[in-house]
Amino acid sequence: MSGISVKAGGISLETPGILASGILDENGYTMKRILQEGAGGAVTKSIGMEERPGYVPPVVFEAHGGIINAMGLPNPGIDNFGDEISKAKESSKPVIGSIFASTPEQFMKLAERMVDYGVSAIELNLSCPHVRGFGAEVGSDPVLVKEIVKNLKGSISIPIWSKLSPNVTDILSIASAASDSDAIVLINTVRAMAIDIYARMPVLTNTYGGLSGRAVKPIGLRLVYEVKKELGLEIIGVGGISTWVDAMEYVMAGASAFQVGTALWNHGRSVFNEINEGLASFMNEHNIKSLAELRGVAIR
Ligand SMILES: Cc1cc2nc3c(=O)[nH]c(=O)nc-3n(C[C@H](O)[C@H](O)[C@H](O)COP(=O)(O)O)c2cc1C
Repeated sequence: MSGISVKAGGISLETPGILASGILDENGYTMKRILQEGAGGAVTKSIGMEERPGYVPPVVFEAHGGIINAMGLPNPGIDNFGDEISKAKESSKPVIGSIFASTPEQFMKLAERMVDYGVSAIELNLSCPHVRGFGAEVGSDPVLVKEIVKNLKGSISIPIWSKLSPNVTDILSIASAASDSDAIVLINTVRAMAIDIYARMPVLTNTYGGLSGRAVKPIGLRLVYEVKKELGLEIIGVGGISTWVDAMEYVMAGASAFQVGTALWNHGRSVFNEINEGLASFMNEHNIKSLAELRGVAIR
């Protein structure tokens, strides 16, 4: 759609909304379909070295304004994922390979395989809040984050995005450590839980999970705004976006593009086209030629 195409994190997107990792993106057919229906790009489910079944259900709980999940990073393993990427790439839109690991060496191996599979960029999952040894446990150590990003930037030819956790006290030190990335992706889910009062125990098998959906939008916005204002890094915003107004708030807070996850469960695939149309008509009305003109305009 003219006017809302953007350059973000080293790639070009026809439309600024990207499918977020973990929602309908373990399968090439569903990614292709979502890409054909208004998404500008798709991030794959986070893929690791080995196949993982994930946790035993219940792994998802519907909370007020969002969902709490602790899936346990189920995925088919990197060796079994090439066909899904090939299928998604039939859309001719960018597919971004999300990877998780616990050491810089494993991140390198996974990134190299993703490059072989033909992805347009790599998203490092440095932020999953509910699996020991991965995700946020790696992503809350600035020294490790710096080493992982530096290693990859030194030898991988495609853009590297670092997806960070909101569950840290000082986001600026982690974002600074990841500043060699082509984009910082904010935010992953917010650590949370639910209790079943009749069973007198936590609902999720894993006890703790991550909250996503509308309830987390103000948290995501604050983190995007703060990192953009203080560090000026390129940012892709994610967290609670379900309308074009939500997306515009993220852009005005400093995001170059944005991702949508949980809203696909509530609104279905039409969410991307609805957001695209809303953004285009707002820009028309206000005589804005490119979304980049609005990036960060709310920052004071
Ligand atoms: C069921 C589910 C699975 C997810 N799996 C992943 C994942 O594998 N890797 C990742 O980086 N983020 C994962 N996420 C986080 C989302 O990509 C996103 O950062 C978060 O849900 C906030 O966006 P939203 O409110 O639009 O869903 C998952 C989220 C949900 C709800």
